[in-house]
Order: sequence, then structure tokens, then C-alpha cells
Amino acid sequence: MDGTIDLAVIGGTGLYQLAELQDAEAHQPVTRYGAPSGPVRVGLLDGRRVAFLARHGEGHSLPPHQINYRANLAALQALGARRVLALNTVGGITGRFGPRVLACPDQLIDYTWGRISTICEEPGSEVVHVDFGEPYTRALRSAVVDAAAGAGVALVDGGCYGATQGPRLETRAEIARMRRDGCDLVGMTGMPEAGLAREMGLDYACLAIVANWAAGAGPDPDEVITLQDVLDNVAAASSGLPRLLSA
Ligand code: HPA
Repeated sequence: MDGTIDLAVIGGTGLYQLAELQDAEAHQPVTRYGAPSGPVRVGLLDGRRVAFLARHGEGHSLPPHQINYRANLAALQALGARRVLALNTVGGITGRFGPRVLACPDQLIDYTWGRISTICEEPGSEVVHVDFGEPYTRALRSAVVDAAAGAGVALVDGGCYGATQGPRLETRAEIARMRRDGCDLVGMTGMPEAGLAREMGLDYACLAIVANWAAGAGPDPDEVITLQDVLDNVAAASSGLPRLLSA
């Protein structure tokens, strides 16, 4: 099946399927890194072959630190994917990134720990030091930004994604620190996925869906973030996604 997939999409919290995929077939590849989070569903979207994988599993059974990021990317690659669009549910930190905003970040900071973050792990494997100054693939980011404009879907072009360990949400002090560091968005799954994709030679971009103001970042500093708010906002913000993906 090598080379037959035009775009692979990894869905995050609240995005467990791509209902628009036609004639989808489920694949269960097992990779040298183990099994991916669930089936990879490959089907047609406007005549193009698209693969979809739910990052946390289709029943959201995997917390961010237990996701086998290497197996997920390797499975998509084995099925023929060369370009990966990561959908990441996030909290917003700075003014332009309020709930229900879609954004295509251009930078990231990694605050995660204890996750396998490289494919240079096994004894004897070649040590690579990939360039990561620009963590997302420029051409794929541009394609996403242009597609959104073409489809009439509002999207913020740019921003810095801060990847935290989770699964708990952050303290207000942690978010204040992330703001000082230059982060606009906070999520738990952006790394090591982006770095691994670069090591594996995959084109990779992030489409962030803002579900809530991060702790203390919104107009009501005492606001409590609930899962229901997160899911409601992801559902509302995702209404333009099929159009954007088609474009
Ligand atoms: N923090 C981290 N990850 C998230 C958040 C958040 O506020 N909202 C959705 N994913």
C-alpha cells in the first residue's frame, strides 16, 4: 500500500472519528514499536485517500503519557502516509486563542518528561540530531492555512504550542510561567509526536482546537475547566473541519 495515502489525520480529545471518510477500511498494523492507539481507518475524502487514527484510542482509553506515539506514526507511515496533520485539543493562553478558535501553530516548547521521544532508542540504531528550529513542516502548514482561507474557515496562522505532561490540567502559576515563556497554547500531546515525525521523515503540522481558557488565562480567573465545556467547545469549533480537510 506504500505511497497511497494523501493525508493522515491524527484526532485528539473529542475527535475520535472522521465521519466524512467514505468506504473506510480499518487497518491494524503492528509496528516495530508495537501497536498504535487503535485501528487506522483509510477511506476517501473528496476522492483523496485519507487515513484517520484516534490518538487516545476510539474510546479515549489512553492518557497522553501512555500513548505509543512512535507506533502511531510508524503505522501511518507503513500504510503509505507521508504527510500527517495532527489535530490537538488545547487550552488558550494568550488573547487571540480563546475557546473555539482554530490555530496552526508555528513553534512549540516541550515541558513533557519520561516519554520515549526519539526513534534512536534501540542499541545499535543510528544517532540522529534532526533540525527542529522550525518544528512543523512549512509547506504543510501553508497548505493548512491556505485550505482554511479557501474553505472560509477562520484560523489563526502561527502561535507557540506548549506541551505539558498531564493528564492533570495546569496550575495558574504554570500557565503564567508558560505565558512568560512565550506559549500561546497548551496541550498534552504535541510532543513527542512532532519530534518523532521529524525523525521519521514525515511532513507534520498541527491544527490546534482551543477548548478552554487555560488555568487563570481567561476573563474569569476563578473559572473551573470541565470536561463537558472542553467537549462542547471542540464540537463547536470542529464544524468547519470537514470543509478544511477537503480543501
Ligand atoms: N491544558 C492542557 N491541555 C488541554 C487543555 C488545557 O487547558 N485544554 C485541552 N487540552
